[in-house]
Formats: sequence, C-alpha cells, structure tokens
Amino acid sequence: MKVLVVGGGGREHALCWALARSASVYCAPGNPGTAELGTNLAVNPSDHDAIIAAVREHGIDLTVIGPEAPLVAGLADDLAAAGHAAFGPTARAARIEGSKAYAKEVLFAAGVPTAESETFTDEAAALDYIGSHAEPLVVKASGLAAGKGAIVCETRAQAEAAAREMFGGAFGEAGNTVVVEEYLTGEELSILALTDGEQVMLLPASQDHKRIGEGDTGPNTGGMGAYTPVSIADQALLDRVGREVIAPVLARLASEGAPYRGVLYAGLMLDDAGTPRALEFNCRFGDPETQVVLPAADIDLAEHLWSIGSGEAWRPPMAACPARRAAVTTVIATPGYPASPVKGQEIELPADLPADTILFHAGTSIDESGKLHAAGGRVLNATGLGRDVTAAAELSRALAEQIRFEGRQYRRDIAWREVARAGAA
Ligand code: AMP
Ligand code: GLY
Repeated sequence: MKVLVVGGGGREHALCWALARSASVYCAPGNPGTAELGTNLAVNPSDHDAIIAAVREHGIDLTVIGPEAPLVAGLADDLAAAGHAAFGPTARAARIEGSKAYAKEVLFAAGVPTAESETFTDEAAALDYIGSHAEPLVVKASGLAAGKGAIVCETRAQAEAAAREMFGGAFGEAGNTVVVEEYLTGEELSILALTDGEQVMLLPASQDHKRIGEGDTGPNTGGMGAYTPVSIADQALLDRVGREVIAPVLARLASEGAPYRGVLYAGLMLDDAGTPRALEFNCRFGDPETQVVLPAADIDLAEHLWSIGSGEAWRPPMAACPARRAAVTTVIATPGYPASPVKGQEIELPADLPADTILFHAGTSIDESGKLHAAGGRVLNATGLGRDVTAAAELSRALAEQIRFEGRQYRRDIAWREVARAGAA
C-alpha cells in the first residue's frame, strides 16, 4: 500500500514513522525527517488540485491529512470527489475544530459536560456578558488561529481587552465570532479517538504541556511536550469519555448530516472529582501528542487508517488501545518562540541516537551542503521510550540536551505531573 501523508511537522513525521511499518510512505511537503522514511513531494497542502495530481501520478492508495487547515478547507471532500481514499473528516464535520462556536453548539445539543459559554458576533453584547460574569474568564476567537485563539483572562478587564482585540481584527476573520467561556480548573487530558463515525477506538491518553515555561508558566504555545500513558486516565475514565463525550458528539454530527470519519481529538479538563468536561475538539491528530501516542500504541496504523479512509468494514479490535510502553517527547524550539521565533540556526545532532529514543523533525530544513537548520518555531521532538513515564522522561530529556543550536529552548520538566504521582505512590 502507498500512503501519502499531507503536512510537514512533527506530527506528520510520527505518522510516517508509524505508517512505514506496513506501507510505503510519501509526504507532502514533508521535512528532512520524513525524507528518511519515504519520498517527500514538493506540493502545497492548500493546493488541492496539486495534491490530487500527485496522488494520481504516484498511484497513492490512501491520503492521510495531518493539519486542520486543509481538512477545514475540504481536502478530504475533494479527494473523495476525485475517487481517492482519504483519512480525515469532511469540511462539514471538520467544523468541530474550524468553529469553536459550532463546537459549543454541538456540545450543548448533545448534552456533553463543558464550560458554560455564550457566542457573540457583536462587541457590545460580549462586553455586557463579560461585565456580568465571574472572573476568571476565557475569551476565544471562534475560527482557526493556530492554537493561539484562546485567551485565559484573570480579570474582567483583561477579558474585555481580549474581546475588543478580537473584534478589532487581531485574529483576522477568526475573531469575527467570539466565544466567552467559564474558566475550568483541573488537569487537562488529550484523547485521540479513531472512528468511522460509529465505532470508536481510543488511542492511549496523553497530556500536552501548553505553556512555554517550566512549571507551566508563561504564554501558551502549540505544545512543548507530551507523555503517555496518564495514570489518572484509567479504564473507567476512558469508558466514561467514550460514553459521555465521544459517542454523543459523533451521534449529534451524524444527525446533522455531518458524519465524522477520521480521528477526533477531545481536549478535556478533569476536575478534582475526575469528571471530564470538553474544552475543545480538533479534527486531526494532536501535535506533539502523536509523537508519543503512536510509539506507545503499537498498532498497525496503516491498516486502521485504510479501513476508515476507504470506507471498507473497519473492525476495531478493542474500544481502547493500551499503551504497550511509556513515551515522553520534549519539544526543542527556537529562541523567541512563541511570540517571535528566530530561525535559521545550524543544528548539531548526536552522531548516534541513544537506545529507546526517536528524533522526530518538525521545523527543520537541509541546505545545499547537507547541513540541518532550524526552520520553524518548534524544531525537533525528542521522544524517549521506557517501561514507565519516569524512565521515558529521562531519555527524552537526555536526547533534548544533545541537540544543539544557538538559543534553543526546551522544558526539562515534561511529564512532571506523572513523575510526581509515581514518586508519591
Ligand atoms: P482551545 O484553543 O480551546 O483548545 O484552548 C487552548 C487552551 O486554553 C486549552 O488547552 C486550555 O489550556 C485553555 N482553556 C481553554 N478553554 C478553557 C476553559 N474553559 N477553562 C480553562 N482553560 C481553558
Ligand atoms: N497539542 C495540541 C494540539 O494539537 O492542538
């Protein structure tokens, strides 16, 4: 089987790594990491005709769409219309990520526990609502904003300023509609659910680290590291998430004529009592969650994605796939990330990777002389594997330490919650 992965970040390198176990992989546009596993195609994911032409030219059996933008723009629909199998939801179903206002409508209609919220297209009405609600509040640009559209506001004054900025155009069209939401406390959890719209297989639960700084401080980023498994996400919790969050959302989407096929990413907040509430949905694999979930899951990914993407009968072997080993990934970012990343530095890698580690490329490029350079905010993902999260975290951190470029930044505390839980046990 020939599989084309669309995208070029750390998530796509991890997808290629897992798919290459049983398929030949192509990646568009890919990165220097995916080039080692298969063939990179210099095609822009936003050019759907060019993607379809590449699928024809290379005899691709299945196209796996990594990022949200081409999904929301209808790449899965366009591939299907041209007679090609694609893994990823239709544009209509991808609205669950493309519009936070729509996601909240679906959640409320499906009766899924979530933060109280209200959606506004009018600035004065939003300010009124903020003025009459308790602090803290979360103000969100409804449209796609590359992970930067949710602003946690300690005070009403901050929330008002955030709403004014959004309506003032700071997030472009994504901010024409604004969701104002109750602030939830607790621990966040990422659940990736493979689904054909009816059946579901949950992948091992993971935790992202959104803040730039150690101890979860500083501004939000796309994610600075992740780990799996998460001990508080036990079988009972996973059953509950499947029953109370994933199934009702899938049923609601189907009833609206937008059946969901692909991977549904639920971002959850667990309160102190362990009750899961939905914070957000993504219509794709998480980044950097995928860089730990796939190495831990040990499944034949190509077979599952083929069955779901081709519409062939899919028989998930279990409701929740266990983590066969622990995995931790540390993101190495450029200086200035997330506000103003400074790129271009030459990267020095260890001559040999230590045992039980995987180095996933995200924002890297190779120049004519074969030298590796930093080409994005998040540059490399150092994944460590182990018997438990503490051992995997040590390997991940040790590998991150060996990746050198000027001004590099990474967190040395990825998986700290789980390491603390293990220490207390
Ligand atoms: P989102 O863009 O909706 O995924 O939100 C990004 C991040 O903002 C989440 O991962 C949380 O860390 C935080 N967040 C979003 N909504 C809430 C909420 N209602 N309460 C607390 N934190 C939130
Ligand atoms: N790591 C968060 C996301 O993929 O949206």
